[in-house]
Parts: sequence; structure tokens; C-alpha cells
Amino acid sequence: MKIVAINGSPRKKGNTAQLLEAVRREVEAAGVEFQVFQPGPGVRPCMACYHCLNHGTLRCVQDGDGVNEIIAACIEADGILLASPVYHAGIAGGMKCVIDRLMLAAGCGENRLRLKVGGALCTLRRSGGTETYHQLLAAMDAMEMILVTSDYWGVVHGADPGQVLEDAEGMEVAVRLGQNMAWMVKVLAASRETPPPARRRTMTNFIR
Ligand SMILES: Cc1cc2nc3c(=O)[nH]c(=O)nc-3n(C[C@H](O)[C@H](O)[C@H](O)COP(=O)(O)O)c2cc1C
Repeated sequence: MKIVAINGSPRKKGNTAQLLEAVRREVEAAGVEFQVFQPGPGVRPCMACYHCLNHGTLRCVQDGDGVNEIIAACIEADGILLASPVYHAGIAGGMKCVIDRLMLAAGCGENRLRLKVGGALCTLRRSGGTETYHQLLAAMDAMEMILVTSDYWGVVHGADPGQVLEDAEGMEVAVRLGQNMAWMVKVLAASRETPPPARRRTMTNFIR
């Protein structure tokens, strides 16, 4: 069992990275593997070529910036944790690039993300936290994922690297999210219930 975390910050060892290390301790203590991907500032945006969707390749035509490795890892994972700094009251640009390409390649055609456990966290200096947290959740919400929450919104405060560790309540919320995600991953693995079959959904554009 494995949870893959995507850190959308361009900053190495920044607040999001440090937050995820605290989550790692909880997830691993629960017996679930935890792997963090941080593609950094070189990650490219979706080009809207639709090659992934039209050909069912489950990968992006753009190679070399780490996103295809993330897509492959997410397809294999039992859970996905999206973690991003807040940039201008929304997710950081790098995170948006990853989400657009991951969701289009792995979730929008043959949905290989369905029924995986999903969770979200964001870090920020002051404002825009719940908007960003809900933006992260919304991407997974549309992919038929099983969203797991904590006992408060996944919003942890800190500006300079390491300051998140001083947000006692925020850290508790993040740690609890890790515990809940690990638990849900194990519950699903132990379940004998057959999930509803996968289906291809009808896609309209409101014109035809
Ligand atoms: C371009 C940019 C925009 C930002 N916008 C916001 C914002 O809207 N609200 C906020 O509270 N903090 C904002 N911040 C601060 C970061 O969210 C904060 O420092 C966060 O902890 C960075 O996480 P990291 O260390 O993982 O990169 C911004 C930082 C940058 C670089």
C-alpha cells in the first residue's frame, strides 16, 4: 500500500516539504509507504494537445520534467496527497501544471485514478488558504476519488521555510490527515466489497 504526495512548491526544503515529512511519519507508522514527488520550477504546463486523451496513452507527450513519472506513480498508488503553497489565493503554478497533465492523462479517459484515496494540504503566509485547499480537492473530486479529510481544513501557516512547524494546530491537522488517509487506504485494501464497475462517462459541451 502506498500514498504518493505531490509537492507543488518550487522551493526545496520549504514549508510544504517540511509539512510532508511530518505526514510521512504518520503514514509510515501506519504501515503504508509514502513517496513524495517535487518536480520543482521546471515543470511545464499542459499544451492542450489532447494526445493523452485521444490515444489513451496514460502519459503526457512532454517528457523530461518529471510529470510522467508522477503520472505513473499515481496510477500505481492507493492514495494521492496534493500539497501546494498558496500563490495569490490559489495553487502555485507548478502544481497547476502537474494537476492539469495528471488529471487529463490518467483520469479523464480511462480513469485510472478512480476510487483512490485523495487528500489535500496547503501552506501559506496569511490568506487564501481555504480557496486553495478546495481547489486541490476539486481536482480529485471530479476524478471519482475517495476524498479524505482531517478535523479542520488542510491549511497550515508559515512564510519562511520551517515556519509551518510553529503552526501547532495546522501541523495537528496535517498529521491527522495522514492518519486518516493511511487508515482509509487500509480499509479499502481489506474490503471484500466489489466497487461499482468503471464506466465511460458521457461528455457534452452544452451545445451537442
Ligand atoms: C508568488 C507568491 C505568491 C504568494 N501568495 C500568497 C498568498 O496569496 N497568500 C499567502 O498567504 N501567502 C502567499 N505566499 C506565501 C507562500 O504561500 C508561503 O511562503 C508558503 O509557505 C510557501 O511554501 P513553500 O515554502 O513550500 O514554497 C506567496 C508566495 C509567493 C512566492
